[in-house]
Amino acid sequence: THVVTENCIKCKFTDCVDVCPVDCFREGPNFLVIDPDECIDCAVCIPECPANAIFAEEDVPEDQQAFIELNAELAPVFTSISRAKEPLPDADEWNGKTDKLQYLER
Ligand code: F3S
Repeated sequence: THVVTENCIKCKFTDCVDVCPVDCFREGPNFLVIDPDECIDCAVCIPECPANAIFAEEDVPEDQQAFIELNAELAPVFTSISRAKEPLPDADEWNGKTDKLQYLER
């Protein structure tokens, strides 16, 4: 599967959604996840993310490993999204900030 990691939080650019052939993205208030049961590992979303937040599972950085489980946990809770929308208002300011996990809304 592919995994959405921390830098999506408070950005949620949603460019990833438009290119997904299987609509496997799920949306929460300020973060997206990938449903691991639906993702076909096509990887087309990776270069679309302005926050570089998406990785193949085997490439998830060491300090982002918790997001593998978090995507699986939140996929059934969050809502399906298949069309891009406006990013969160302060997305550009939050892009690249660290320690954003504390701001994750469920
Ligand atoms: Fe998040 Fe990047 Fe998609 S910021 S919503 S994973 S384009």
